[in-house]
Amino acid sequence: MLSFALVALLVVLGTPLASAQTLSNGTSLQTGIISASVRWQSSGILQVDNCKVNVPFSPCYSMSLGATGNLAEPDRQRIEFLSWPPAMAGETWVYDWTYYLVPGVSSSDHFFHLSQLLSRDIGGYVVALDLLQGRVTIRDTIRPNCGGTCPSIPQASFWGRTTYHRMTVTFGAQGSLRYTVRAPAFTGGPQTTLITYSLPTGSNIPADSTIKTGLYRLFVNGQSAATAFAGAFSFRRTA
Ligand SMILES: *[C@@H]1O[C@H](CO)[C@@H](O)[C@H](O)[C@H]1NC(C)=O
Repeated sequence: MLSFALVALLVVLGTPLASAQTLSNGTSLQTGIISASVRWQSSGILQVDNCKVNVPFSPCYSMSLGATGNLAEPDRQRIEFLSWPPAMAGETWVYDWTYYLVPGVSSSDHFFHLSQLLSRDIGGYVVALDLLQGRVTIRDTIRPNCGGTCPSIPQASFWGRTTYHRMTVTFGAQGSLRYTVRAPAFTGGPQTTLITYSLPTGSNIPADSTIKTGLYRLFVNGQSAATAFAGAFSFRRTA
């Protein structure tokens, strides 16, 4: 009887706010569909409307990876939203989303994608935004060193603020890509550009592609937990 009461109490205490909903609880890799154009996959904790800071978008999806556990594959942790269906050669897509990285996340010299344009034709990313050695940086697999130096900003210029992401891509041999990350000043006011990166018209952009955003990293010993919020997804084919 006592244990029944204790269990009942724990169930009540463990019940989230009425509006919050858990999509995945971190015990295994789960997948789901949000809309015709947005899907998710998560080995961590993915919740709706449980964001711990004020973000100007709703619904707000919160993603949390533990310092340990939450493994998607032997050595990776993953929570990502992705566009659907995959983009094909000759098509043009505009991907918009909003993202907030909670400050204090550790980084290393191994991959930690905050976003990536994934191509199944090449079996990996084309262009990604990574948290890498204390900086938020563009990575590009089709143009070595981004054709010079990959754009990057200190992590403190990126985390702790709402960031607005747009990637416009034409796929195929006559392709092009433009990725812009913007944010209002910390004190408010109009948005300024934090990072921009382009591949000019005539670039060969590999197809069978989806945009992905979230937290996807190689598991590294000594890493911190990681939390991010995302929402306002608009993934659409325009041509
Ligand atoms: C986690 O989610 C899975 C799949 O929905 C479910 O089978 C399992 O019971 C859950 N575990 C906990 C601890 O809530």
